[in-house]
Amino acid sequence: MNSALNIEYRVNAPLDLDAMIDLYRSSTLGDRRPVGERDRMRRMRDEANLCITAWDAAKLVGIARTMTDFSYVAYLSDLAVDLDYQRRGIGRMLIEETRAALEPKCMIVLLAAPQAVDYYPNVGFARHESAWILRPQQDA
Ligand SMILES: CC(C)(COP(=O)(O)OP(=O)(O)OC[C@H]1O[C@@H](n2cnc3c(N)ncnc32)[C@H](O)[C@@H]1OP(=O)(O)O)[C@@H](O)C(=O)NCCC(=O)NCCS
Repeated sequence: MNSALNIEYRVNAPLDLDAMIDLYRSSTLGDRRPVGERDRMRRMRDEANLCITAWDAAKLVGIARTMTDFSYVAYLSDLAVDLDYQRRGIGRMLIEETRAALEPKCMIVLLAAPQAVDYYPNVGFARHESAWILRPQQDA
């Protein structure tokens, strides 16, 4: 692949559901998201109110999917980069573009996937010792 990538970042751009599901799979995030349940994935796409996508021409290569009030807190639920495009700064840019869309006083919180626990300190996140989860009532 050409190493001189010209990646375009878009805010809340239209997103084909199959392309989104393919990206979740091709990044490995699909192992931990309900990619086999199209209706849930469609709601995940449609109800998130801040979605930054990364494009190599017409190809979707990265996503940062966030729920936020833009003012106090933003929950960055899904950050994913196609395996062929990882370690080229796209994840970092997706986070920067997410931040740029928020007001300066707004914080970003997230849950790290096991493979990414060492990633977030690299891109400026601090570990929080008192994060708590109320697990779903049904098996996810
Ligand atoms: C995590 C992920 C989004 C990172 O995206 P990326 O585009 O590969 O990351 P970047 O190129 O922006 O990396 C930024 C820095 O973190 C480092 N880094 C990247 N992946 C890392 C990892 N898994 N562990 C530790 N450091 C990592 C890079 O080397 C780079 O360091 P540098 O600036 O000193 O060179 C991507 O690997 C991914 O999609 N993983 C699978 C899905 C996943 O687990 N998502 C997280 C859900 S919580």
